[in-house]
Amino acid sequence: MTQRTLDVTIIGGGMITNDLILPSIYHLQRMGVVGKINICALNNAPLRALKKNRELREAFPKQDFEAFPSLSLGANKTFPDLYKEVIGAMQPRQAVVVAVPDWFHYPIIMEALCHNQHVLSVKPLVLEYKQDAEIEALALEKGLFVGVEYHKRFDRRALLAKHQYAQGQFGEFIMGEAKLHEPYYYRHSNFQNWFTCDRTDPFTYVGCHYVDLVYFITGLKPVSVSVDGVKGKFPNGNVGFLWSSGRVRYENGALLTVTDGLGYPDDAAGSNDQGLIMYCEGQDRSGMIHHDDHERGVRYCYLEPSGTARYRYVSPDFFRLVPWEGPGAKPIGYGYDSIAANLQAMQRIEEEVSGMDDESSRKRRRKLIHEIDHGGVIATPANSYINELVVEAARLSIVNDGVRVDILYGDNPHVKKA
Ligand SMILES: NC(=O)c1ccc[n+]([C@@H]2O[C@H](COP(=O)([O-])OP(=O)(O)OC[C@H]3O[C@@H](n4cnc5c(N)ncnc54)[C@H](O)[C@@H]3O)[C@@H](O)[C@H]2O)c1
Repeated sequence: MTQRTLDVTIIGGGMITNDLILPSIYHLQRMGVVGKINICALNNAPLRALKKNRELREAFPKQDFEAFPSLSLGANKTFPDLYKEVIGAMQPRQAVVVAVPDWFHYPIIMEALCHNQHVLSVKPLVLEYKQDAEIEALALEKGLFVGVEYHKRFDRRALLAKHQYAQGQFGEFIMGEAKLHEPYYYRHSNFQNWFTCDRTDPFTYVGCHYVDLVYFITGLKPVSVSVDGVKGKFPNGNVGFLWSSGRVRYENGALLTVTDGLGYPDDAAGSNDQGLIMYCEGQDRSGMIHHDDHERGVRYCYLEPSGTARYRYVSPDFFRLVPWEGPGAKPIGYGYDSIAANLQAMQRIEEEVSGMDDESSRKRRRKLIHEIDHGGVIATPANSYINELVVEAARLSIVNDGVRVDILYGDNPHVKKA
């Protein structure tokens, strides 16, 4: 049987597209999952940089993408609505990958769904629960798949912890700490244009990974959140929360403390700092899950600095380009696994309905989407909506000096200042 390939349009050509999405999609093109690739950004400068990226050119010789806006136009001219045209010109039921700043995910996802496209969005899906519910309902009604790129779910250590937690090997989660500190140099990147207090903060940006992970492992729902932040100035003068300290309480009374920031020293070995410890209660003894996600046991000292330091903790687990049996190099790691799982889910859905009439196809697609939701491995609006509630609560808390915000479930889940 020949595979049905999906044409992919990536909206956003920034850091995450360069570091993770484009190389993964290029490899999936080789593997017969992806057909044509478009990338649409606000202007063509980042697209030019993607085309020139030497590591990508060497890893994926002869592979390319179509740039919107075209590279023949001026580099500084912006096209904020061009993504609508590019999505509008796609064949139905292909794939749109959303890789723009957080608050802009929602209109692009809705545009893609209205034009009958399957969607993969970087995390967080959206910043409000109401938007999550709207996306879930529209996608299901049209039989379109929406996935959220919470790649930590695909880390082998997270999958193992989920498996053994479900077997009862640790007891019940009761007290934990998570941290994710991104490097200082992020302050000099495009972040300074959008990482402002009114729009996002470190908890929303990266803390959400560990909130999702604890839910992924335990299935426990968060019931209240408080997040306090420390403000600072970016080099361009914009003010953002540069550090955050959050606390999440769960339905069983458990507590998780989450610290995040844009401040891990550039000269330090780790490239960032991250990890999770979860204490659990059993029958007259306690259990523990401890993931050091910062130092994964590989330490290299280079002749010339890699980034700003010579001595580095190197993670082969998230994303690396390595030699393989084919031309160039191939991506490995849970970042690639996550993108592949989402794109392959779309491909599987489309292959299963190939040749069916419209109504049978739509019914079958909806059934397959429900199966993925219940499977609980790929994050979807239906099975990861707690993240939107936590992010919504966190935003309300951090702009109100860390006040506790409760999450209320039931027919109409919502958040409320305590
Ligand atoms: N670990 C992770 O999961 C991870 C890491 C980094 C970023 N992200 C997420 O990825 C998203 C983007 O982050 P980034 O670091 O790539 O940001 P970035 O600032 O480097 O890039 C943003 C891109 O969005 C594009 N864009 C903005 N407005 C647009 C418009 N109107 N039309 C088309 N393109 C537009 C810009 O041209 C730019 O290429 C964020 O939601 C972030 O949270 C996730």
